[in-house]
Amino acid sequence: MKILLDTSDVQAIKRIAATFPVWGVTTNPAIVATGRVQLFDLLPAIRDALGGKGTLFAQVISSSVEGMITDAQKLYERVDNLVVKVPVTPKGLQVIKELSAQNIPTLATAVYGSAQGLLGILAGAKYVSPYVSRIDAQGGNGPEVVSELQSLLSMHAPESELIAASFKSPRQALECMLIGCKGITLSPEVFDLFLADPAVAIAVTQFEEKWKGAFSTDYL
Ligand code: E4P
Repeated sequence: MKILLDTSDVQAIKRIAATFPVWGVTTNPAIVATGRVQLFDLLPAIRDALGGKGTLFAQVISSSVEGMITDAQKLYERVDNLVVKVPVTPKGLQVIKELSAQNIPTLATAVYGSAQGLLGILAGAKYVSPYVSRIDAQGGNGPEVVSELQSLLSMHAPESELIAASFKSPRQALECMLIGCKGITLSPEVFDLFLADPAVAIAVTQFEEKWKGAFSTDYL
């Protein structure tokens, strides 16, 4: 499965990518605003933090069809191995359809429902991102939407890929992994929480202490 980071924090990307094979990095205008670095300065820095590898995802910001297409073309021309994120709205669907005709890869984003996500894919997007915690916060069931969308994609668009997004806890991400989700994008904070149980460090220290208490020679 693919694990991506959902952040503009270049230092965090560098730190995590040094220890784990991060497949790519997702951003959106709000995430970029948090880092206060312009997109065309940020994306090369992210690529460097990934060691020159990885797939980058950046979102259009215009509200018109023409504007979104221009945003997408600029992003795609200037950054290698980039996928353009387009919200699944009536205009967004038109943009995804047009970008697909131009062979510009897209991710259907701002997905709150399985049928909405399927439409993004059928319009021509390669990837789709249901917003798990935002669906939960509305009183819906994020993992259930992910599960439905996975079933729809395997029936109607098996070449597409789901990258579940908007996680506020490791448990939400785990629930998606348990239902077979093949891609998730996590904030560095949620990624770090997978490794944050203090019992792990205590266990590792105990191994060393027990060994040293029994032998005065090298272990190997
Ligand atoms: C992913 O690509 C989305 O833009 C992102 O996960 C949304 O996350 P949020 O709900 O934390 O804003």
